[in-house]
Amino acid sequence: MAGVSDIEKMLAEAISAIASASSLQALDDIRIRNLSRKGRITSILKSLKDLPLEERKDVGAAANKARVAVDQAIKDARDRLMASKTVSTLDPTLPGIRNEIGTRHPITSVMDRLCQSFIRMGFAVAKGPDVETDYYNFEALNFPEDHPARDMQDTFYVEGEKLLRTHTTPVQVRVLETQQPPIKVIMPGKTYRNETVSARSHCIFHQVDGFLVDQGVTMADLKGVIYAFCRDFFGDDVRLKFRTSFFPFTEPSAEVDISCFLCKGKGCPLCKHYGWLEILGCGMIDPNVLSHAGYDPEKYTGYAFGIGVERIAMLKYGITDIRLFYENDVRFIRQFK
Ligand code: DAH
Repeated sequence: MAGVSDIEKMLAEAISAIASASSLQALDDIRIRNLSRKGRITSILKSLKDLPLEERKDVGAAANKARVAVDQAIKDARDRLMASKTVSTLDPTLPGIRNEIGTRHPITSVMDRLCQSFIRMGFAVAKGPDVETDYYNFEALNFPEDHPARDMQDTFYVEGEKLLRTHTTPVQVRVLETQQPPIKVIMPGKTYRNETVSARSHCIFHQVDGFLVDQGVTMADLKGVIYAFCRDFFGDDVRLKFRTSFFPFTEPSAEVDISCFLCKGKGCPLCKHYGWLEILGCGMIDPNVLSHAGYDPEKYTGYAFGIGVERIAMLKYGITDIRLFYENDVRFIRQFK
């Protein structure tokens, strides 16, 4: 049976081991060796009852003192190690911290999807500046001097002749000036209009324009490409309606309606019980636009089309307020995972 001096030796040993311990694991080993259920100090305390009464008091006091001292020394050493950061506090048994994976903005993904559809049909992609000149945005596109779209109400003027483009069609002129036929491009981008922001219209939005110029291009080619696009994007059973319309830069011009993909043309709230949804504007490039860009309109013809990205995205996802696209509320964006 250990006596008081044995206990003091044990205590001294433990204290020096604690002082030189350099890891939490080493401290824990010392604790187990001395203070666990079968540890050295615990065993002494447990067997006190076997000692004669006169020894029990001194040995008990020494063992108790040792227990408290070792316990305290371990706690102090643990605090010291943690504070010195020489030990890793990483606990590999804790559950991992979940990182939220971001989502693409619905406008980005719809715009990409639109472009992919045309890229697969052989269209190249062209880009132009957001800050345009009156020439490219209006004049070269055959807008008469007094056309209402030139009005201050619709256009954000920057300074002098500069303005924020009101559509992506000006890129058509830039491409016509720099490339040789056959030209077949799509032109995605941001567009701006000085409009009151409401559920239905915003001052910033996106368009994908496209055009083809070559010899012998006809309205049949236009219809073919629009049909192919609509089948690819909205499904094989989609029906189309070409309605005559007007744009200064196309002649003839048309707006295209597709049979409502929700009710298949029967009439529902999405198509406002009309059975059809308007999805784009298009036409044969006006000879004036071609000759302005230096082409002989007797030799070259072409078609063009313009798609509003927000409109397509709103139809596709049943979104009724365009402002949601620009508020960047993550609760909205997250729904497009
Ligand atoms: N630029 C027109 C707009 O913003 C859309 C458009 C219509 C573009 C017909 C075209 C086109 O290229 O051929 O409303």
